[in-house]
Amino acid sequence: TSSSVELNPVLHPLNWLLGNWESDIPGEGTFPTIKPFRYTEKLYFSHVGQPVINFMFNAFNAESKKPMHRECGFIRIQPGTNKVAFMIAQNSGLVEIEEGELTGNHLKLQTEKLARISFAKEPHVQQICRVFQLLPDGKLEQTVTMVTDNQPLSQHLHITYRRS
Ligand code: HEM
Repeated sequence: TSSSVELNPVLHPLNWLLGNWESDIPGEGTFPTIKPFRYTEKLYFSHVGQPVINFMFNAFNAESKKPMHRECGFIRIQPGTNKVAFMIAQNSGLVEIEEGELTGNHLKLQTEKLARISFAKEPHVQQICRVFQLLPDGKLEQTVTMVTDNQPLSQHLHITYRRS
């Protein structure tokens, strides 16, 4: 769908994000309370001509290849500004709105609204901060930090992707 419809001009500033990405080397998962782990991930950003990006992020265990974390949602940019909003549903039972600013090829977002299913696993996340950045070599980098019920802001994820 991305290729058959002309890009809505509102999305031009986020053009660098569109398309499909795959981790080049396994990403690093960390948090003070968990055992460090490695994962691979595929990202899909597409559009259908609306001023909206559709996305899916699918993560897998680096060794067993089993599916792990999954997210999907929509991205909007406030026309004429650098304000960006992500609307995200996660398979862990979390739904979230993140907002932030686009500065060139650097996009920084943080939780604006967060809700979860009544039986979500604990500890609960309270705040998420993520940075997407297009690196000079054409790779994409995502870094996620979070606050939980019992931990201050700490890094959870770091990964780089190549176009696939
Ligand atoms: C653990 C949140 C993305 C894999 C956790 C924990 C939270 C959390 C709150 C529990 C930490 C603790 O026990 O103190 C999130 C959020 C994500 C995210 C909000 C997205 C914004 C991912 C991704 C992976 C992943 C992409 C990749 C596979 C894990 C693993 C653990 C964990 C393996 C430890 C075991 C477990 O508790 O299931 N995450 N996570 N997470 N996360 Fe994430």
